[in-house]
Amino acid sequence: MAAIRSVKVPGPPSPFPGGVSLFGGGLPSPLTPLSPQGMVALVTGGGSGLGRATVERLVERGARAVLLDLPRSGGAQLARELGESCAFAAADVTSPEEVGAALALTREKFGRLDLVVNCAGVGIAVKTYNGKKDKVHELEDFQRVINVNLVGTFNVIRLSAQLMSRNAPDADGHRGLLVNTASVAAFEGQVGQAAYSASKGGIVGMTLPIARDLAPLGIRVVTIAPGLFSTPLLAALPEKVRKFLGQQVPFPSRLGDPAEYAHLVQALAENPMINGEVVRLDGALRMQP
Ligand SMILES: NC(=O)c1ccc[n+]([C@@H]2O[C@H](COP(=O)([O-])OP(=O)(O)OC[C@H]3O[C@@H](n4cnc5c(N)ncnc54)[C@H](O)[C@@H]3O)[C@@H](O)[C@H]2O)c1
Repeated sequence: MAAIRSVKVPGPPSPFPGGVSLFGGGLPSPLTPLSPQGMVALVTGGGSGLGRATVERLVERGARAVLLDLPRSGGAQLARELGESCAFAAADVTSPEEVGAALALTREKFGRLDLVVNCAGVGIAVKTYNGKKDKVHELEDFQRVINVNLVGTFNVIRLSAQLMSRNAPDADGHRGLLVNTASVAAFEGQVGQAAYSASKGGIVGMTLPIARDLAPLGIRVVTIAPGLFSTPLLAALPEKVRKFLGQQVPFPSRLGDPAEYAHLVQALAENPMINGEVVRLDGALRMQP
């Protein structure tokens, strides 16, 4: 068998204008040379869980971030702790005005927008019709989940794309990246997850058409579909239940760490070839009914 020899090839151009890298201060990535300017990110739901871990990772690695979350969230406190590289925007993702104001803040404070991570989301567990209780799923509850998870994500995407499109493209024509958060419930929704699964399935379904819409502008769109992650939601469960849930994951048999979600966001940002795709991050978990 012929020996495989490694061949040195020049790396592709930086995916972001100005050759920005998330590895600021760390190891230089072969794909994204270091830049003193740093990437500018907007992270929705950044006050808690997966969004919080993403903001922390990005800022630790030299990016600047606007953390968008509800006024009652822990977002303002986290932004204060992270210092000058982070700003808090109190906003509801379903509001065109409030998201517009958060983007205006991003432009005023940091001058540009390279990366958006949509983590804001809500969930409910209600049966379509509960025969035992003779109770029908409230339509308002269904609509609220769709509105926050699906319409809110689209609202942030459409307005962010406009600001991102103003970036000067890099040599590859790249202007930025939009990352969405679906769930494995988009594919294997469980009992009681009609609204949640529909909202996440909508995010999966719109990933490719939006990537196609924005391709001429050099803006990529990728969706992450997480399995079970140890965020405040699950952290509140008894240890026994958390352990049981973790054991449902083939490997590694545990709940995911929000830092592992943030790590994937970084990997997506640094690899300009991934676009229009949904990436499961679930340790091979397939949810049972
Ligand atoms: N944790 C998991 O196991 C898991 C698995 C699959 C998918 N997800 C998805 O990941 C995302 C983050 O989940 P998490 O576990 O970190 O949840 P979380 O509850 O810890 O964080 C969600 C954040 O979104 C914010 N938010 C809610 N509604 C908002 C609105 N209308 N406008 C702005 N912000 C709003 C909340 O204030 C909160 O800070 C959600 O979309 C969730 O559906 C989570």
